[in-house]
Amino acid sequence: DEADLQRHFDAVIAAEHRIEPRDWMPDGYRRTLIRQIAQHAHSEIIGMQPEGDWLLAAPSLRRKAILLAKVQDEAGHGMYLYSAAETLGADRADLTDKLIERKQKYSSIFNYPTLTYADVGVIGWLVDGAAICNQVPLCRSSYGPYARAMIRICKEESFHQRQGYELLMTMMRGTPEQRAMVQDAVDRWWWPSLMMFGPPDADSPNSAQSMAWGIKRHSNDELRQRYVDMSVPQAEVLGVTLPDPDLEYDPATGHHRFGAIDWDEFQRVLAGDGPANAERIRRRRAARDDNAWVVEAATAYASKHGS
Ligand code: 3HC
Repeated sequence: DEADLQRHFDAVIAAEHRIEPRDWMPDGYRRTLIRQIAQHAHSEIIGMQPEGDWLLAAPSLRRKAILLAKVQDEAGHGMYLYSAAETLGADRADLTDKLIERKQKYSSIFNYPTLTYADVGVIGWLVDGAAICNQVPLCRSSYGPYARAMIRICKEESFHQRQGYELLMTMMRGTPEQRAMVQDAVDRWWWPSLMMFGPPDADSPNSAQSMAWGIKRHSNDELRQRYVDMSVPQAEVLGVTLPDPDLEYDPATGHHRFGAIDWDEFQRVLAGDGPANAERIRRRRAARDDNAWVVEAATAYASKHGS
């Protein structure tokens, strides 16, 4: 009966084993996984826009090929994650509608514009760097399909971060104008990248339950701190200054203290009032509506040929 099923589920979670699609699971576990996996997938797909904007203006064939590979990877990450959500009974078309109707979220970071080509490098270095900090622990998430999707995604994400950092190193060895472009991009992306980890633990309604269920392995603040500690030495090697006068290493804790994050800005962006929210949703809606005929044709073909 239900009590035995709950006990078995609790024992699997306590033993840090995996829950698989056909296992019994509490409705809340299924709901919060669909919520997080769908929004993770939406983030990957929306994230293709800011970078994709520079595909035609990349400065060399090599840079264009690298950027094209990265944007295609993000599409693939979205597909893995929508497939993981489907194992929980979610419908991919329904999730896309919820994204477009703003009933589901995507990462706040993609509501900022990519103003210069240096942004492509800074997104690789900082945004994919933050994503790696957040996604590596998710490889140990208690839900099997999500954890396995993460293992593949993390391998590709490390290529994304390295190519971004190498791009910036090249520009920092360039002209004063190129160095200034890199510093300007760092100034614009640093604080929004800290917001990718979510609100402070004290204001995180999902964390306690997600950690009890082995979905979230570290708190928002823990991973944010890990990201800051990782980024400071990388910024020094690069020769850029992180835009936080309060940033300083604390030998007592071995961590870097940093300044206050503007959570009002975070809430405004989540409420849809960021610089690029409207454009991101408009383009995603157009992609769905303009390509509806492809879905209809493929569905008609499949139903006629029974595949
Ligand atoms: N942007 C948008 N929404 C955010 C957010 C952000 N940066 N941070 C938190 N939120 C939302 C949460 O989704 C939640 O809203 P909901 O209940 O409607 O879903 C609310 O704010 C409160 O946050 P919580 O801390 O309670 O929520 P979580 O426990 O879900 O923690 C999270 C938030 C850390 C983002 C977690 O959901 C998570 O780890 N998600 C998977 C990772 C992910 O989505 N990464 C996106 C990064 S971008 C990316 O991966 C693309 C890369 O290839 C560049």
